Amino acid sequence: MTIIDPKYSIGIDTMDAQHAKWIQLIEEFRSAGAGHLLDRIGVEAAKLALEQLLAYTCTHFVSEEKLLAEYKYPGLAAHKQRHQELEAAVIKLLDEINAHKTKVTPLKLNLFITVWLMEHIIQEDDKYARFILGKPPRT
Ligand SMILES: [Fe+2]
Repeated sequence: MTIIDPKYSIGIDTMDAQHAKWIQLIEEFRSAGAGHLLDRIGVEAAKLALEQLLAYTCTHFVSEEKLLAEYKYPGLAAHKQRHQELEAAVIKLLDEINAHKTKVTPLKLNLFITVWLMEHIIQEDDKYARFILGKPPRT
């Protein structure tokens, strides 16, 4: 099992383990996307990494939403909305790569998605974790 970087730990073991795997896939996409995108091999590598990231993102979000529903997290609807936005952004990028629009929309610029995904853990996921663990919200 991949150990999560403490700065991304939200203190709930099951989610930390999933986040660790998720971050690993994000990093794999980031390094593939930073490679040689002008050649076919580079684009295929980025595409594969993004497909794997998308598949795990869907799995992880379903699992997380189930947990939040079990705990009757009051922010569940808003959190689900954020998940849908993130998923849509990843799908859009994958579509762009599939449509060979990477020259129009350089993949490197779209790597902001990876930062956005990680920010989700630090900001949004931390909120539900504090609720579940009975900690006061951050001010
Ligand atoms: Fe989340």
